[in-house]
Amino acid sequence: MTSACESDSTTRHAQLPPRSSERFACPRIVTTPHGEVVHTADGRELVMRDIEPGDIAAIQRCFKRLSPQDVRRRFMHAMSELPPSMAQRLCRIDPAMEAAYVLMDETVKPAELRGVGRIYVDEASNTAEFSVLVELEWTRIGLGALLMQRLVDESCRRGLSELWGYVLMENRPMLQLCKEIGFVAKMVPGEAGTAQISLALQ
Ligand SMILES: CC(C)(COP(=O)(O)OP(=O)(O)OC[C@H]1O[C@@H](n2cnc3c(N)ncnc32)[C@H](O)[C@@H]1OP(=O)(O)O)[C@@H](O)C(=O)NCCC(=O)NCCS
Repeated sequence: MTSACESDSTTRHAQLPPRSSERFACPRIVTTPHGEVVHTADGRELVMRDIEPGDIAAIQRCFKRLSPQDVRRRFMHAMSELPPSMAQRLCRIDPAMEAAYVLMDETVKPAELRGVGRIYVDEASNTAEFSVLVELEWTRIGLGALLMQRLVDESCRRGLSELWGYVLMENRPMLQLCKEIGFVAKMVPGEAGTAQISLALQ
């Protein structure tokens, strides 16, 4: 199987297939002391950084802006609200076992969370489960691919052997995005509407 990581003695680099179109690779990133500033092709600007405990209110506001379909696609079931305990859990991560990156819109006050990607490491299998979300008005400009790329890079950096996640079969955007990155999909036994998609890393 093709490896998505390549390593030398000091660094690891994700080796992903070429992107589907120019737009797919569009966000331009400038690293600053404050975080990575992401410039989208349509002229918008976001800051990509690690999630922080102080993001709880922003993640709750983001959840309120999601459509029922996006909530179902991200959490795999319907949810009418994001309980405070869950919001805290999502923002106060254990860095040994998790990584999470947010895309913050700092052009508004308070800053709003427009996208988030995370991995949960399973030490026993040396793999990580991922999830990703981009707010609807910020989709189709390469941010989902950017977050997925970051999750692949982080998984490689941790020496994990596989990155995987569950995706609803009706979620064509996510299945298409993952296919282009090189993930392969298989059906989940007993879960007719769900695929498990995975990327071998080394
Ligand atoms: C799936 C999701 C993350 C995609 O985010 P995004 O920022 O729009 O993705 P990108 O702009 O990086 O798109 C990358 C590629 O994915 C595919 N893609 C994305 N949205 C698509 C759509 N609506 N229809 C078809 N293909 C799509 C395309 O190939 C696209 O490349 P292109 O724009 O050059 O054609 C976003 O729609 C989302 O958050 N959905 C709700 C939550 C969810 O489904 N999460 C996944 C389960 S964990």
